[in-house]
Amino acid sequence: MAASMGATLILRRVRGPVRIFCRYRYKKKWATSFAAASCPRLALQYFDMNYSAQFGDVWPSVRIGLLSEQKYGALLNNFSSVETVTHALRSLKASDFLHEARAAMTGSPGVMAVSPAETLRTSNLTCYTFPRGDISRFPPARSSALGLLEYYLLDAASLLPVLALNVQPENRVLDLCAAPGGKTLALLMEGCGYLAANDPSISRCNRLRRVLQSYVPREQRTDSRVRVTSWSGTDWPEDAVYDRVLVDAPCTTDRHSLQEEENNIFHRMRRKERQMLPLLQTQLLLSGLRAVAPGGDVVYSTCTLSTLQNECVVERAVGLAAAEYGVHAEVQDLRCLQEIFRKTFSFHLDCRLGELVLPHLTANYGPLYLCKLRRLR
Ligand SMILES: C[S@@+](CC[C@H](N)C(=O)[O-])C[C@H]1O[C@@H](n2cnc3c(N)ncnc32)[C@H](O)[C@@H]1O
Repeated sequence: MAASMGATLILRRVRGPVRIFCRYRYKKKWATSFAAASCPRLALQYFDMNYSAQFGDVWPSVRIGLLSEQKYGALLNNFSSVETVTHALRSLKASDFLHEARAAMTGSPGVMAVSPAETLRTSNLTCYTFPRGDISRFPPARSSALGLLEYYLLDAASLLPVLALNVQPENRVLDLCAAPGGKTLALLMEGCGYLAANDPSISRCNRLRRVLQSYVPREQRTDSRVRVTSWSGTDWPEDAVYDRVLVDAPCTTDRHSLQEEENNIFHRMRRKERQMLPLLQTQLLLSGLRAVAPGGDVVYSTCTLSTLQNECVVERAVGLAAAEYGVHAEVQDLRCLQEIFRKTFSFHLDCRLGELVLPHLTANYGPLYLCKLRRLR
């Protein structure tokens, strides 16, 4: 303030400069007088503004879920010996939610006939979760006698995109945004014939490689079975090559943005990057639609609640694929997931396209959006 006392302010007018003495002038310096809002606080303001309009009365309950501790599932490593760990997980009162969904389905033959239910019936995945309302945590995974980790901890809802993809043993699969690799691992456990896993971030790609080394035996990681690349997925060089493509796109990662300061997309230096997300997501989904062969399926998924990054991206990518590349795709009905997994996840009941798992205090998974598209020609 002392420095500004007696300072001279020069105003430029049409007829030339006029000197004004402002002896007691005090200019607030915003950058130093007020601490910058933290990234999670900025994220919460943004979400309150957008999601209260999007979800109406449901938003307060989703908001509490998002701000509370997330639940995890323990995806058993099929490549390792599972008996001892199964026993240990059961003694913690955890149970395999996929097995329970399968058992419940046999009692409703109507559900069994639809394709995601058929996938669940043939799926090789086993994922242990704690019951609804139980917020216990799993201990970190240990190495089995084979030297492989026994399970992978992940948001159990993130298995839905893998199940929706309905991978068959002979399928060639592309995982376009693969790191750190939870879904890649699940895709390999589903037994696909060939998996191309890609992520342009070198550090995240290294994490993906470490995950593969820790969970998949060397003989299953041969070049003829798995390929890891670090390219941008926006201008993908392969056309009509794959039977299945997973586009698990970068997004505002709503839960992370509300809980962690580090690597937060709401940092003011990353504003442009955040604003460009829908465009990046559209380009990635377009790449996925072009990379899959006619008759094949693409699953687009994110971990945000944002309609702009979910349904709008799907609509825009489908429109552009047809208009610019003659690639026609049709959205597939996944509504039966709500019926199959209603005991484990809380679904949004009003999703225009695809399905959305909402965080909820009693089942605190997600957000997880997924939409399945079939390329027609
Ligand atoms: C939601 S994460 C993927 C999580 C992963 N599928 C899993 O299950 O562990 C999104 C990923 O997209 C990657 N990504 C960012 N830009 C990309 C681009 N241009 N092409 C492909 N992937 C990109 C990020 O590096 C990040 O690892």
